[in-house]
Amino acid sequence: MSVDPEYLYPDYRSTELRAPARPLVTLPEHLHDLRAPVFGDETVRQGDDDLTRQHAGEPLGERIIVHGRVLDEDGRAVPRALVEIWQANAAGRYAHDRDRHPAPLDPNFTGAGRTLTGDDGSYLFVTIKPGSYPWQNHPNAWRPAHIHFSLFGRVFTQRLVTQMYFPGDPLFEFDPIFQSVRDEQARAMLVSTFDLETTEPDWALAYRFDIVLRRTPFEDAE
Ligand SMILES: [Fe+2]
Repeated sequence: MSVDPEYLYPDYRSTELRAPARPLVTLPEHLHDLRAPVFGDETVRQGDDDLTRQHAGEPLGERIIVHGRVLDEDGRAVPRALVEIWQANAAGRYAHDRDRHPAPLDPNFTGAGRTLTGDDGSYLFVTIKPGSYPWQNHPNAWRPAHIHFSLFGRVFTQRLVTQMYFPGDPLFEFDPIFQSVRDEQARAMLVSTFDLETTEPDWALAYRFDIVLRRTPFEDAE
């Protein structure tokens, strides 16, 4: 069983609109050969990794540290990878026009951050724990609390978009997005672990989320 979800997973309704209807086209090999990362240091500003300090005041909610390492399939660190996150606020509301969930916006929380991994592949964000929110997929549909992740690795084609969840969420079994990953072990990899060691006493809890960026075939050939 593939660790990746099917493009078309009918219980997750919007996949019916965006799943490819025709076989994928394989790009010519030379188009893979973009060696330099497209995004670099200049896209990341100091403080972009702290979502609790982007406004005049502190956002409401439970302050948390989210950290981990970005590794390749052989367990080697991926340094200078661009890691971007976006998320709802503590009440489960996105600072986005399309979000009509009647939960309060937080003037001190935009919900987007970015950072580059260090030499050891590590990254760290300070943020607040996002709330669950309803969506229109099916009657009484609620998303488990999650943080969206986007990663660009050493090369442009080393790309991953995923979501991080929190341990023990009661909504896992009812969420078609989480369940669209059919392999149980792969699903477990989407759930962060509570990390007591990294908590900051009297300040913030911590969760660890390690990410494996898969090697693409053209790298094997080199
Ligand atoms: Fe979301």
